[in-house]
Amino acid sequence: MSAPRSARSRVLSGIRPTGDSFQLGNYVGAVRHWAAMQDENDCYFFLADLHALTEAPEPDKLRERTRNAVAQLLALGVDPQRSTVFAQSHVAEHAELGWILGCLTGFGEASRMTQFKEKGGGTVGLFTYPVLQAADILMYQADSVPIGEDQRQHLELTRDLAQRFNARYGDTFTLPGAYAGRAGERIKDLQDPTRKMSKSIGGNGTVWVLDEPKAITKKVKSAVTDAGREVRAGEDKPGITNLLTILAVCTGKAVPELEEAYDGKGYGDFKGDVAEAVVELFAPVRARYAELVADPAELDRVLATGAERARAVALETMTAVRERVGLLAPRS
Ligand code: TYM
Repeated sequence: MSAPRSARSRVLSGIRPTGDSFQLGNYVGAVRHWAAMQDENDCYFFLADLHALTEAPEPDKLRERTRNAVAQLLALGVDPQRSTVFAQSHVAEHAELGWILGCLTGFGEASRMTQFKEKGGGTVGLFTYPVLQAADILMYQADSVPIGEDQRQHLELTRDLAQRFNARYGDTFTLPGAYAGRAGERIKDLQDPTRKMSKSIGGNGTVWVLDEPKAITKKVKSAVTDAGREVRAGEDKPGITNLLTILAVCTGKAVPELEEAYDGKGYGDFKGDVAEAVVELFAPVRARYAELVADPAELDRVLATGAERARAVALETMTAVRERVGLLAPRS
């Protein structure tokens, strides 16, 4: 008998434990939405440690970062009582479903994924990265997947694979909703606002969630700005637009409202206020993180409970998948 599916909408998302800290873009594009969605939805949030392996991390570092990432999620408001928080590798079925979906993915289709193309090639793991991501999502029958704009193409592939599987083998997977991010939520690098802020670039253009206040202030104040003096958003002003987006997220105010408030003021005042707002946003997160990370046994317990709940869902999905594709059930 399968457990009754909750009437609430199912939400799933993941983050790779690839750096010593999440960056501001991870928070704006993804994690803040996770925290906000917990009350109304049945949420699954995981650390994509298998995906992190595509970057060949040092083994002890990966373990440490995975635990630290749990502490960051909790410090940012993800509540393991209300959400299922787990490590991808603790649910072995992800890799299994990844393989099965790989057998439905065209070589050309996978070759079109921009992430692989942008990195200029690499391992087979990097090539099939989006297929494993599709497995992560479809395993939990997710209705929605809160992710940043850079992940849109992976979600589209997921939808295609779900449709293909359902058409070939019968209705099995929920089709997740298309990318639902709001415009402007792609946070750009502060030193080069034509590219996204990212953990792998780092440097002065990346604000880490766990940065000290002084470092945040320095980075924001030295952010590259644009020609002119007016604080307004626009295609000709990628630097100021990015800072306006950040301030809007921190203050909960809309960009036009902020543009009006800074009418007649220069970039200096504006950047000072953005720096202060980001410092205020992350100061309590940093403090809470320090408490949480001091108790690794508790973080491991969170992951153990999460894995148990996640495995129950994964087993249900995989029992159906194995049967539909024609794998012989082992005798028990
Ligand atoms: P990762 O760890 O690179 O990023 C985690 C989330 O942060 C978002 N993000 C951004 N959003 C706005 N502006 C930015 N500058 C920015 N940088 C990062 C990402 O869009 C992402 O939502 N492939 C995923 C991990 C993953 C996953 C999944 C996600 C694996 N399986 C299944 C959802 C569902 C990734 O790149 O994470």
